Amino acid sequence: MSLLDLSDRVVLVTGAGSGLGASHARLLGALGAAVVVNDLGGAVDGSGSATSAADAVVAEISAAGGRAVASYDSVASRDGAQRIVGAALDAFGRLDGVVNNAGVLRDRSLPKLSVEDVELVIDVHLKGTIFVSQAAFPVMKEAGFGRFVHTASSSGIFGNFGQTNYAAAKAGIAGFSRALAEEGARYGITSNVICPVARTRMTDELLGDLADVLDPAAVSPLVAALLSPRCAVTRETFSAAGGRYARIFSGLTPGWLAGTGGTPDPEDVLAHLDAILDTTTYSVPVNANEELMFLAQLLTGGEARVALGAAR
Ligand code: NAI
Repeated sequence: MSLLDLSDRVVLVTGAGSGLGASHARLLGALGAAVVVNDLGGAVDGSGSATSAADAVVAEISAAGGRAVASYDSVASRDGAQRIVGAALDAFGRLDGVVNNAGVLRDRSLPKLSVEDVELVIDVHLKGTIFVSQAAFPVMKEAGFGRFVHTASSSGIFGNFGQTNYAAAKAGIAGFSRALAEEGARYGITSNVICPVARTRMTDELLGDLADVLDPAAVSPLVAALLSPRCAVTRETFSAAGGRYARIFSGLTPGWLAGTGGTPDPEDVLAHLDAILDTTTYSVPVNANEELMFLAQLLTGGEARVALGAAR
């Protein structure tokens, strides 16, 4: 089997000083990519900062014969994000791929969340993903090529007790990626999401015996594949854990049509919840416009004009 070749590519991995990000950076470096290893170097809860985390991964990649530079800025501010992208351009003169991976945890049930627990988690995961992508987008647009891989979580897609702040941020990333995929399509820019599960300091106490089979290195090959110029897949969300890779998708049931001539009584809606929720058949709209077209077909026989996504 030949190795995926990324030797003429420059990629940036946020939160690459430990765990999954470090694993991605190592693999990308081994595949020949020049890597910007960004990490603030704090604790799992987001406290503190240090240059040592990013430096250690850069040293590893360099020792293995790869090319890498460190960046210590936080993804959570727009200026920091600009500097992180600037580090790629300064060191390597281009930027082909971005892996938004930096993350922190502040798990508490909803009544116990402090303002800081909410703001920090949204700032690092969701705003960090938006700001870094926003800084990279013009560079990719100019080049007519770009690859984004964002890190969400099954918590954000399927839900998890004690993670309302984190789930909200991660679900936001999934929505952001799909909208970004729409905006990037005409410039050769793809945007996909991974929902990993892996043994890292973040999950140390959560995975029990399963931790043994959840090596972060088993997630990284999907990241590398999605960064490849040979992969045109976009708008997708993947589950990746322990060497199993799968698609996560949002389906739309046929639902219940109350009739187009008026509004039904809420009692009627209650009585039809089973039909509304029935997943025996479903479709998977590629974007919001396609859902609107399904609706137009159903409600007007396709006569209504659909005009979503007109903003530039
Ligand atoms: P980790 O704690 O080992 O890695 C996160 C890295 O992000 C750390 O090195 C940290 O210093 C860095 N970071 C935190 N705030 C930052 C900021 N503002 N700017 C730049 N860097 C910052 O944890 P892990 O598990 O490797 O997490 C990586 C990503 O994967 C996170 O987004 C996490 O939410 C996500 N994830 C992990 C899962 C798992 O099973 N480990 C499950 C689902 C999602």
